Amino acid sequence: MVDKEKQSSLKKFEKRVFSGVQPTGGLTLGNYLGAVKRFVEMQSEDYETIYCVVDQHAITAWQNPLELRENTRQIAAFFIAAGIDPNSAILFNQSAVPEHAQLGWIFNCVARMGWMQRMTQFKDKAGKNSQNAALGLFAYPALMAADILLYHATHVPVGDDQKQHLELTRDIAIKFNHDYKVDFFPVTEPVIGGTASRVMSLRDGTKKMSKSDPSDLSRINMGDDADTIFLKFKKAKTDAGALPSEIPGLKNRPEAENLITIYSALSNQSIESTLKEVGGKQFSEFKPILAELAVELLSPISTEMNRLMQNSEEIDIILSKGADRARKIAGPILQKTYEIIGMLQP
Ligand code: AMP
Ligand code: TRP
Repeated sequence: MVDKEKQSSLKKFEKRVFSGVQPTGGLTLGNYLGAVKRFVEMQSEDYETIYCVVDQHAITAWQNPLELRENTRQIAAFFIAAGIDPNSAILFNQSAVPEHAQLGWIFNCVARMGWMQRMTQFKDKAGKNSQNAALGLFAYPALMAADILLYHATHVPVGDDQKQHLELTRDIAIKFNHDYKVDFFPVTEPVIGGTASRVMSLRDGTKKMSKSDPSDLSRINMGDDADTIFLKFKKAKTDAGALPSEIPGLKNRPEAENLITIYSALSNQSIESTLKEVGGKQFSEFKPILAELAVELLSPISTEMNRLMQNSEEIDIILSKGADRARKIAGPILQKTYEIIGMLQP
């Protein structure tokens, strides 16, 4: 028994989770199911957890300063309302820990142009006018690698769209270790998958649910009230068939698959058992059941988020304490990095 306890406290140190969310406006059900719900679950498993509001990533596209500050608090409020306990997890905003930018610069010198040019998110975000995109938008994945490796994080829970950036993080760690002949940065494991790593638009089951979609009907926002949630599910695009009872019946039915995925993730069950439960129902019958479950789970989060937003001082104190704790880990790792690469620290 004692041995087991010893083992588990050791394990706790071996497994460190880092993840981040950008404060760039509204949060969607995709952010919750694809990322934050898992952040909460990992907190009560065997991990040390570090969660960051990545404000320096946000400014890769221009942000209104007042809104950026409010959005930063809002993401923090969302984390806490969703169940992250700031006494256990380390919760902070990126710019309060300058080591992120410092290690980010070093990784700009490790990552290769060719690697960055392959990043699909840059191509998507920069669009046709890539010559006019910020240099920071191009370099951003190197800063993301710094966010993670600054804590020697071993596990990074994210949605499916971040997979390529995590592969780049691994490449940077491997190249750094190789170039300086050290075994210093860990090769991080992405934690993608689970039921809802990719929540799709309610208007088009082949497109990701996104805060930047022009149609508000395409997404559930974390602040939507019950009526809005019912309306959005009611209007969600579907096909004419009834729901299948087994997985092969979802083939080529992206909208049906998406609603089933959302229901499964909300009710913490597998797709198989959801289909056993609802197979045979018409969408007209299933949609209100789904909406009801969503309201039941999301409205306490919205209420708590709003309460916290009325108490911005409370949030700021939490973030400031979190930044102090983060720097205690990040500082020595940056110092060691400087030593390895030969930066004189007189
Ligand atoms: P972002 O809002 O783009 O900073 O994303 C924050 C986190 O939410 C990342 O881990 C994303 O992968 C995840 N995420 C965003 N949209 C979705 C979605 N539609 N489905 C699943 N995960 C998502
Ligand atoms: N790039 C992530 C996104 O757009 C946010 C992010 C920044 C992140 N740094 C990170 C996620 C480190 C995980 C780990 O959603």
